[in-house]
Amino acid sequence: MRLAVFDTHRYDRTALEEANVDFQHALTFLEPRLVRQTAPLAEGFPAVCSFVNDRLDAGTLATLREGGVRLVVTRSAGYNHIDLVEAGRLGMRVARVPEYSPHAVAEHAVTLVLSLNRHIPRAFLRVRDWNFSLDGLVGFDLAGKTVGVVGTGRIGRATARIFHGFGCRLLCHDMMPDDAFAREVGARYVPLDTLYAESDVISLHVPLTPGTRHMVDARALARMKRGVMLVNTGRGALIDSRALIDALKRGHVGAAGLDVYEEEEGIFFQDLSGQVLQDDVLARLLTFPNVLVTSHQAFLTREALVSIARTTLESVRAFERGEPLVHEVRAEQVLPPSR
Ligand code: NAI
Repeated sequence: MRLAVFDTHRYDRTALEEANVDFQHALTFLEPRLVRQTAPLAEGFPAVCSFVNDRLDAGTLATLREGGVRLVVTRSAGYNHIDLVEAGRLGMRVARVPEYSPHAVAEHAVTLVLSLNRHIPRAFLRVRDWNFSLDGLVGFDLAGKTVGVVGTGRIGRATARIFHGFGCRLLCHDMMPDDAFAREVGARYVPLDTLYAESDVISLHVPLTPGTRHMVDARALARMKRGVMLVNTGRGALIDSRALIDALKRGHVGAAGLDVYEEEEGIFFQDLSGQVLQDDVLARLLTFPNVLVTSHQAFLTREALVSIARTTLESVRAFERGEPLVHEVRAEQVLPPSR
């Protein structure tokens, strides 16, 4: 089947071309993000492949549909960038990659914690400048500390297991607690406020929904322990960035590791090194020595890319053959607002 792949980077293309040896779809790689203005590029394609910073709103979807698109496959677990209600109304099917490597994201979340705690970016720069002083590099033992995991789906569980291995005490929060898992890692499911109040490190692993948007706002931050380390590999808008900046300035938040940022669209995945950064909130975040930002790279392991490519191409094949779309997402699956 002919598939227009948007927002293609070298690593996507390599993984998709290698996987496609088994599928033989006709792949067309396009660099632009899929938004209203670029949707006409898909004219004549029955299927498009999108990624997290595309914007498949009503306008984009209408143009795609007019051009003949009937299937959207997103090479991501999250699908908050797609208006599922509108897609359903237009008779377009949407499939995602619900699971590729929870380890990739979990290990990145832990990487952010370790790097921040032991000041690795600073230490790296210092030593390269032949400054071998240790002042300002004091960290803490993770063993014995309390780690709060918000969302214990596939990635949250993988993260909790790693922290369990470090000898941390685990507090978990999820709208659907898993008691067997809690026993496995010696965790306790608690209300969010308790998790906020008792955790030394908090890692976010819930999807972005109307109910989780800005779940970490000024009120939530105020409930957290002074000096808390906050890590977000979920979606940027889980955190109110302005409230975070305020809490960082006051020293209430001790460190923040952010793989995602609420306004990352159009910034992350791009080389803007020759330009003036227009986003003042991100620019401010990048000035803190205790903030580590990565550009939505938690998923980026070889294993994850191979798995994403295969699942994506399998969905296209199933659609082409009229078989059930196992990884289909529909509007009614989107979780209702809740705190
Ligand atoms: P999952 O669906 O396995 O788990 C999500 C968990 O969150 C579920 O247990 C669910 O019950 C819980 N949950 C949902 N809404 C909630 C609420 N309002 N309150 C409490 N709990 C709630 O998803 P998975 O695979 O663990 O991924 C989590 C998120 O990580 C994805 O939605 C995606 O946004 C993000 N992600 C980020 C990546 C990156 O590269 N930074 C890569 C992959 C995923």
